[in-house]
Amino acid sequence: MTSHVPAIGGAIARGVEGEPYWKPFFEGFDKVHAWLDEVRPDTVVVFYNDHGLNFFLDKIPTFAVGAALSYQNADEGWGLPEVPPFPGSPQLSWHIIESLVADEFDVTMCQEMLVDHAFAVPMQLLWPGAGRRPVKTVPIAINTVQHPLPSATRCFKLGAAVARAVESFEADSRVLIVGTGGLSHQLDGERAGFINKQFDLFCMEKLVNEPEALLGYSNRELIERAGTQGIEILMWIAARGAMTHGAQRLHSNYHIPISNTATGVLLLGNPAT
Ligand code: DHB
Ligand code: FE
Repeated sequence: MTSHVPAIGGAIARGVEGEPYWKPFFEGFDKVHAWLDEVRPDTVVVFYNDHGLNFFLDKIPTFAVGAALSYQNADEGWGLPEVPPFPGSPQLSWHIIESLVADEFDVTMCQEMLVDHAFAVPMQLLWPGAGRRPVKTVPIAINTVQHPLPSATRCFKLGAAVARAVESFEADSRVLIVGTGGLSHQLDGERAGFINKQFDLFCMEKLVNEPEALLGYSNRELIERAGTQGIEILMWIAARGAMTHGAQRLHSNYHIPISNTATGVLLLGNPAT
């Protein structure tokens, strides 16, 4: 689970990861890179929230699963260099879609899907450097743009259903689950700049082995505690739902601020991995 602030993409493009502002954030990923080198996942399922790029107010699915051959980042502008397209895994995508629908999650199926910084930035963070991204991807978008949003409990259950799908996939693959967004931040309105360190650390703690503690919060309560855009914690909750009860914390880092956001990375492993 990791934050996904667009400015991170700018820092990577300018090569300033080692500067004092950025270092405490980027070095939080060193241990993640070492772990990825060890476990070498071949596919990554990414729970992320589209920010109005691929879906907008006219049509917005609650849950959308990518089933494309590849996913192009089309986010932001800012004069950033183009990121090469992210290869898809249509076979796993369709397996997940079939399994989810059988499991009563009536998702939107996307044979074409553009991705934004919420997908591209975490991929760059996990596999930095050109040509070092040896994974296929399955993006799963969760609506955080237009109310009503799915509840924390619903997102957790979606994650669990995705895990059941991945486990029943016949091909022998090593699948990494990623959730992107958060932690606390609010980009506009009276509380612009709002950050709640205490609540962030509470979430990072509970996500490890007591995720149920987060499921009782309504979305309104989450927004009160984490800021309007802090609702992106729903993606972390979905990713946690895809892990086993006894998941263990392998690494975590928390840093304030990057742009307007309290950022975090939390690496959990299922006991068998
Ligand atoms: C910022 C954070 C986000 O999650 C986002 O989607 C856009 C911007 C920020 O802090 O600048
Ligand atoms: Fe965001």
